[in-house]
Amino acid sequence: MKELEIKVKVNVFKGQAELSAADAALVKAAQKALSNAYAPYSEFRVAAAVLLENGEILTGTNQENASFPAGICAEGTVLSAVSALFPNVAVRKMAVTVKSARQHIAHPVAPCGICRQRISEYETRFNSDIEIIMVGEEGEVYTVSSIKDLLPLSFSNADL
Ligand code: THU
Repeated sequence: MKELEIKVKVNVFKGQAELSAADAALVKAAQKALSNAYAPYSEFRVAAAVLLENGEILTGTNQENASFPAGICAEGTVLSAVSALFPNVAVRKMAVTVKSARQHIAHPVAPCGICRQRISEYETRFNSDIEIIMVGEEGEVYTVSSIKDLLPLSFSNADL
């Protein structure tokens, strides 16, 4: 037996003020979109903003459903918008932020497992890394330069 040690890299910023101008602008776009979330069941609003290779910024928010599993995460919503509007354009960056009516979120919130898999598909499809910027209501901000840092040993088209 041998051990396979996998390293991931997460950049930790003290707050949004430390981000580059481009990353801060994307976070602002996500924060502005929070009001579009439809989250009457969890009262946990999530917004994602993507910067595309062509400079476009698109946003998406979580859209819940009385049949809970039918709800869609913010990351899934924005990636579907990308596929609908700019089907052949690569995603460069994604910012994710949250606002909860039930608790104050003072830490970065990371994409759920299914959304990591969705983001991974966009990376492999366009052979282009996607930087992910994770922001809570306040506090530290995490960034990773690729979904590979959030989803090591991922399942991909290379396995099929
Ligand atoms: N949610 C997202 O939109 N993205 C994630 O990565 C995590 C969870 C949503 C789904 C649901 O509407 C609410 O947050 C609570 O789970």
